[in-house]
Amino acid sequence: MPSTTRRQKYTRRALIGAGTLVGGCAVVSGGGYLLFSNATEPRSTVGEVEFDTQLAIPPLLDPEPDGDGRKVYDLTLEAGEAEIQAGATTGTWGVNGPFLGPTLRARRGDTVAFTIQNDLPEDTTLHWHGMHLPAAMDGGPHQTIRAGDAWHPEWEIAQPASTLWYHPHPHGKTAEHVYKGIAGLFIIDDDESDALDLPHEYGVDDIPLIVQDKNFDDDGQLEFDTGGFFSDFGGSSNFGIFGGTILANGTEGAFFEPSRTLTRFRILNGSNTRFYNFGFSDNRPFRLVATDNGLVPGDPVELTRIQLGPAERAEIVVAFEPEDDVVLRSYEQDLGGGEAQLHARDEFDILNIRVPGDLEDSPTLPDVLTSQVGAPDVPDGASERDFVLMGHNRINDQKMDMARIDEVVPANALEIWNISSNSNPHTFHIHGCTFHVLEIEGDAPPPELRGPKDTVFVNDGHAVRLAVQFRDYVDAELPYMYHCHLLRHEDNGMMGQFVVVEPGTESSVDRNLDTSHSH
Ligand code: C2O
Ligand code: CU
Ligand code: CU
Repeated sequence: MPSTTRRQKYTRRALIGAGTLVGGCAVVSGGGYLLFSNATEPRSTVGEVEFDTQLAIPPLLDPEPDGDGRKVYDLTLEAGEAEIQAGATTGTWGVNGPFLGPTLRARRGDTVAFTIQNDLPEDTTLHWHGMHLPAAMDGGPHQTIRAGDAWHPEWEIAQPASTLWYHPHPHGKTAEHVYKGIAGLFIIDDDESDALDLPHEYGVDDIPLIVQDKNFDDDGQLEFDTGGFFSDFGGSSNFGIFGGTILANGTEGAFFEPSRTLTRFRILNGSNTRFYNFGFSDNRPFRLVATDNGLVPGDPVELTRIQLGPAERAEIVVAFEPEDDVVLRSYEQDLGGGEAQLHARDEFDILNIRVPGDLEDSPTLPDVLTSQVGAPDVPDGASERDFVLMGHNRINDQKMDMARIDEVVPANALEIWNISSNSNPHTFHIHGCTFHVLEIEGDAPPPELRGPKDTVFVNDGHAVRLAVQFRDYVDAELPYMYHCHLLRHEDNGMMGQFVVVEPGTESSVDRNLDTSHSH
C-alpha cells in the first residue's frame, strides 16, 4: 500500500478523535494524550539494551502417568511479586510462582488431568489455546473458576506435535489477567516429532520464548490502562497496551548462551496487542519448523523475518557459530493502514545470543518434517461462513453476548470461513480446531502461512479465506469462541460463540443460552 494512503488514513483518524473530544468533553485532560498517542514518534531500543540478565526458562511440568495412565498437573494461579526491572519489586500474577507459568508437556495419546486452584483475588478461567478438546474443558468464559475454587478439566491429547499455550479467558477481563502474568506454553510431542532430528532438549537447545510488552509506573508497578471512557473513541487506547519494555519469559534485557550448533526457539507473541517482526541483527536466515498448530509441511521454509501478531506462535531453528554475538530483534511490522495506531514502526532489541568458543555439533535438519500436507482440498459445495471484523468491538455487526449462539457447526465438516476486516488490523482465533489459510486477498498465502494455524493476521481491509474443520466433540449447549486476539478488542466484544453438533441436528439447536449458572 502506498504510504500516502496510510498517511491520509492516519490523519483522518486523528481528526475524528480531536473532533469528538472538542465537541463532547474538552475539559477531560486525558484528551491530550489520546491525540498525542497517535502522533507518537516510533520507539526504538535498538542498540540501547543492556543484556545483563540470563534468559529465564520457565520450569517444565512433564509428570509421569499415574496408576490410571493419566498425567496429572497441579496448577495454582496466584498473586505474587517479581523482580522484573533491576532493583524494583513488581506486583504480578503467575502460575505456581509469581509471574507467568510453567511449560506443560504431554504426548499425543496421553490423558491429561488438572487441578487448577484459583488463589487470585478474582474469578478467572484458564483456556488451552490451540487445543482440540471438548467445549466443557476449553476454559473459555463459560468455565469460570471462582476465587478460592478449583477446576478439574481432563481430556485426551489428540492432535499433532505443536506449541500451544494457556491463558485466562474471563468475559471482559482477559486483557488484564493475561497482562498481569497468567500465561504459559503447552508443548505437545508425538511419534513423528520424536523421530525428527530437531533440537528438542528443553532449556538447552529447545528454548521457549514468550514475548510480551509491559509498561511500568514510577513505583515499578505494571501499568494497565483499561481504556474505559476513551476506548469508545479513536486512538491507540482502542487497542490497549503498547508497552515500551519487552520481556522474554519475563526477563528484560536477556541473554542466552547456546551450547549446540542449532537452537530451536518456540516463540509466542504473548502480548495483548503488539505485533512483532522477528529477525536477527545480522539478518541471518533461520528455518521455520512449526506454526501455531504444528510442523510446517512441504519444502523447507527459510526466512530472515517472521511477523507474529498476538497469540501467534512460530518455532524456528537457527544455526550459530562459535563467538557469534547477535540480537533477536523486532523490526518494523507491516500493518497496512493500522501502522500508526499499532505502533508498527517501533523496533526493539529482545534477546542477545552470545555464543561461547565451543559448540557441540547438532544433527543435520531433515528436509521433510511431517507427512501432513498443507491446506486440504475443500470439496465443492462446502459450507461458507462470513465474519466481518468491525471497528473495535463487533463481528458481523454484533457484540459478543454470552447468552447467544452465533454459529452452529456440524462435526467433522470441512468448511470455509471468510474473515475480513472493515478497518484496523486484527488477529483472528478459533477455538478447538486447526485451520489452514487458503487465500489472503485472493492470493495463495506466503510460505510461512502454509502450515497449521489457529490464529491468523487479518490486515486492515483484507479478506482471509480459511479451511476449518472441527473434530467430533459435540455439545449443543456449550459453545467455543472465535474472536480477535487483540485482547482489548476481544474484551470489548469482538467475539462470537459457536457450538459443534452431530451433523443433521443443526436446526434443532437452541441459540439462546441460559447463562444464569455462569458468573
Ligand atoms: Cu488465546 Cu480465545 O484465546
Ligand atoms: Cu483459544
Ligand atoms: Cu481486533
